Amino acid sequence: MSQHSDIIPAHGGQLINRIATAAQKQEFLDLADSLPRVQLDERSLSDLEMIAIGGFSPLTGFMEKADYEPVVTDMHMKNGVPWSIPVTLSVSEEVAEPLKEGSKVRLDSPTGEFVGILELTEKYPYNKAHEAINVYRTEETKHPGVAVVYNAGPINLAGPVWLLERKGHAQFPKYQIDPADTRKMFADKGWKTVVGFQTRNPIHRAHEYIQKCALETVDGLLLHPLVGATKSDDIPADVRMRCYEIILEHYYPQERVIMAINPAAMRYAGPREAIFHALVRKNYGCTHFIVGRDHAGVGDYYGTYDAQYIFDEFEPGELGIAPMKFEHAFYCTRTKTMATSKTSPSKPEERIHLSGTKVREMLRAGKMPPSEFSRPEVAAELIKAMQAK
Ligand code: ADX
Repeated sequence: MSQHSDIIPAHGGQLINRIATAAQKQEFLDLADSLPRVQLDERSLSDLEMIAIGGFSPLTGFMEKADYEPVVTDMHMKNGVPWSIPVTLSVSEEVAEPLKEGSKVRLDSPTGEFVGILELTEKYPYNKAHEAINVYRTEETKHPGVAVVYNAGPINLAGPVWLLERKGHAQFPKYQIDPADTRKMFADKGWKTVVGFQTRNPIHRAHEYIQKCALETVDGLLLHPLVGATKSDDIPADVRMRCYEIILEHYYPQERVIMAINPAAMRYAGPREAIFHALVRKNYGCTHFIVGRDHAGVGDYYGTYDAQYIFDEFEPGELGIAPMKFEHAFYCTRTKTMATSKTSPSKPEERIHLSGTKVREMLRAGKMPPSEFSRPEVAAELIKAMQAK
């Protein structure tokens, strides 16, 4: 049951909270020096955070083999609940060897700070090629998500976790709004239908167009930029967030939009990640989720609409959140509006569409992206950021 009766239940039925209580925290602090340690990388740290705040409900920890296997092969956990991306803690044999199943492990951040506890239930080896092919549809290590799999240790540590303490986000404390809080905000606003928007790029006019098309038919929009680990040539999160602040101020109905950060790491798993992204937004209380062109894709590993087709592999209603699918949007010089091939009769030469990659190249060369692509205030902010770099 959801806390708020009008808000959609969390995935699996209940919003998970694995943030230690004050008493638990004291118990863990007392134990800290006596426990074996595992150091998390940036992604595992954000996975710990996402599990703890309920963003990954119904997960309460890193996946055991009985869930991992069917998630990799069949996009369901052992109890039949849909899940499309393995959430695992992979370590080297040397790290895994002394750890005892049934005991507690201290989890440290990449900088060595005590951040959580793993109640270790299982250690198991896994097949990287099998995971890469099933989840990423490729074994090429040029793919940034596959590279992470191949660089990770060969043993998965599994079991429930506890986050020692929920700290304010170092960069974006104002936008750190956890699932329990977005749910409350939606309820307070009386929103019955809310569409979630995932993004890892600076906002451009096609993003704005599909968000606003969606907003025509639902009560509210959750703008949910991902601020966890991304690949090195993506635009940094602080620049993207500033662009969002600017565009919200000038071009959006502020009372119908909530912006919050999504602390998760990018996997670049295209279709599989679109399902994952949707389920996470369901946990934040969204009823709908935008899936446009090549959602969460990288390079040319996925077809333009593969991330939309994958939703048809689930039974109607099984995911509990509805995708809102959008075709490739562009500026149409004939109708002088943003459009897609569904709404515009224009010829290819009458369509202005730039990819995020193209814009990054323009900005690097000090060129302003055209106003048909980017709002001028956003373009100016991006150029400023590039020049400062
Ligand atoms: S993503 O990796 O987070 O998907 P991005 O921030 O570029 O990358 O995309 C955010 C969302 O907007 C995704 O659903 C994506 O499919 C959609 N999108 C991006 N550009 C376009 C476009 N030109 N037309 C339609 N949808 C788009």
